[in-house]
Amino acid sequence: MSETATASRPAAPQAAAATAPAFTLWFTGLSGAGKSTIANLLAQRLVASGRKVEVLDGDVVRTHLSKGLGFSREDRDTNIRRIGFVCQMLNRHGVVAIAAAISPYRSVRDEVRAQTPNFVEVHARCALDTLVQRDVKGLYAKALRGEIQQFTGVSDPYEEPLRPEASFDSGAETPEASADRIWAALVQLGLV
Ligand code: ADX
Repeated sequence: MSETATASRPAAPQAAAATAPAFTLWFTGLSGAGKSTIANLLAQRLVASGRKVEVLDGDVVRTHLSKGLGFSREDRDTNIRRIGFVCQMLNRHGVVAIAAAISPYRSVRDEVRAQTPNFVEVHARCALDTLVQRDVKGLYAKALRGEIQQFTGVSDPYEEPLRPEASFDSGAETPEASADRIWAALVQLGLV
């Protein structure tokens, strides 16, 4: 087919999405703070806009890719490096990667950031009191009773990001409002 014929064809509906850069949207925050919920909302919106998307959720990754890892600093860092590695592979093929893992240590998050061309860090915030009240998985109660060791936010550290590209407080706003704010940050960054 001649170039002219190709050029005169109507643009494919997803032409704009195909040229937009891939990126890694990295959610960090305490267990139950809303990482997975907002990650999945963003994934739906991105798919609706014509993007290819994969979500890497800590709870799921730990049943496959990171099966057997525990919650020592070393194991958590290994988990984060593995998730980061897969995100980079997906990005190389034009797929938007969304990671939702506590990722409590700043240094390994920054390590992944340094290796990832378009790294967008989102801090899922929520007051500990609210998390303990919600306790969807019943883990905070167990951690407070000492039945789970090294539980992030209770008996293990969480290092907040210093300059996240976006953040939201799931105790103070609706999931849609949080998703809107993150979407606005992506627009600002020229990624959607
Ligand atoms: S990370 O620290 O390595 O990033 P990840 O997000 O994969 O953690 O897994 C966290 C999930 O594991 C929590 O949402 C919770 O369901 C479960 N979990 C079990 N033990 C712990 C613990 N000691 N600290 C935090 N989360 C734990």
